[in-house]
Amino acid sequence: MSIEKKELDRIYSLLDNVKDPEIGISIVKLRMIDSVEKRGDALNISIKLTVPGCPLSATIESDIKKALAGENYGDINIDFDYMTKEELESVKKAIYGNNQKLPTPIERYDKKSISNIIAVYSAKGGVGKSSVVALLALVANRLGYRTGILDCDISGPSIQTILRTNYRAAASEKGKIAPLDYKGVKIISVDMLTNAEALIWRGPLVSSAIKQMYSDTDWGSLDVLFLDLPPGTSDGPLTVFQSIPVDKIVLVTTPQTLSQTVGAKTMLMAETLKVPLIGIIENMSYMVCDHCGGRIDLAGEPSRRISKIPILAKLPLKQGLSSNLEGTLSKESFTELNGVINAIAYKP
Ligand SMILES: Nc1ncnc2c1ncn2[C@@H]1O[C@H](COP(=O)(O)OP(=O)(O)OP(=O)(O)O)[C@@H](O)[C@H]1O
Ligand SMILES: [Mg+2]
Repeated sequence: MSIEKKELDRIYSLLDNVKDPEIGISIVKLRMIDSVEKRGDALNISIKLTVPGCPLSATIESDIKKALAGENYGDINIDFDYMTKEELESVKKAIYGNNQKLPTPIERYDKKSISNIIAVYSAKGGVGKSSVVALLALVANRLGYRTGILDCDISGPSIQTILRTNYRAAASEKGKIAPLDYKGVKIISVDMLTNAEALIWRGPLVSSAIKQMYSDTDWGSLDVLFLDLPPGTSDGPLTVFQSIPVDKIVLVTTPQTLSQTVGAKTMLMAETLKVPLIGIIENMSYMVCDHCGGRIDLAGEPSRRISKIPILAKLPLKQGLSSNLEGTLSKESFTELNGVINAIAYKP
């Protein structure tokens, strides 16, 4: 239901007192109010954040509710989206003119010539994210997709260890970072650029390293770029989701309950950040008996598993996986991974 102009003006004048906590400017002046509607006695407000997944959205929500508390609305429902790069630019211009910047530390990069950017993620460590990234990339490459890997784990880069390479990056002819070419897969990782000092970098340096590797690497044209994310919800993953235009998230879990619980948190994070979570790769899901060839399911009770999101593939717990990534998996596993890649990158 639309609102009469007089009432709308009053709402806007009250909301003018609510400031974006990071920028310190009114959410009205920042053009963050996308729409205001009434449903019965409830008020529905859509807010566009200046950065995706802004950690301060809860503060904005509570400040809006406080500002409108005296207005006798039944419910005040607030939903969040975020501004496009163009919208953000136009707000910056309107407020500061041509030469000034909004004091937001977040910069959003464009897609470059990369068709699909896939973040392989789990908030839990050690579930096999990096191994899955390496496998997916090798399978994608074999299927003919132009493929890359950006190792976003600054304090624990492991792609080089998994692939048993020891590459040091140099500048390409175009003055960009030349990535490792591993059987056709273009790979960049912080241990190709620096020595051990990256292990102790703090948040801002971690963020700028990830951004620099994304924006300064000579990727050329890619069909799919896999991002190997560090575990947790700290600076690394947040930088990735806020700065890199991720198209889809693939969640890696193991069957243990703890991992499933953390998986549920990851789903929530994906929802908040508005990046589609396309499915789960359940790693170390079963074992194959060396003697009879039978399959021993290691998954927990079905009720404890994440039911809403489809399982794209189940990979076995496999002895020797770390020493021979491609040689250890069965045809069946590769067929499942082919399906995952086609779901991610196939364009008819
Ligand atoms: N399916 C598997 N079968 C046997 N071992 C595996 C399997 N998947 C991963 N591993 C082993 O488990 C260990 C952790 O794997 P990996 O480094 O891929 O996990 P990760 O989730 O990326 O870890 P981190 O959170 O530290 O980045 C490695 O030694 C790897 O070889
Ligand atoms: Mg890893």
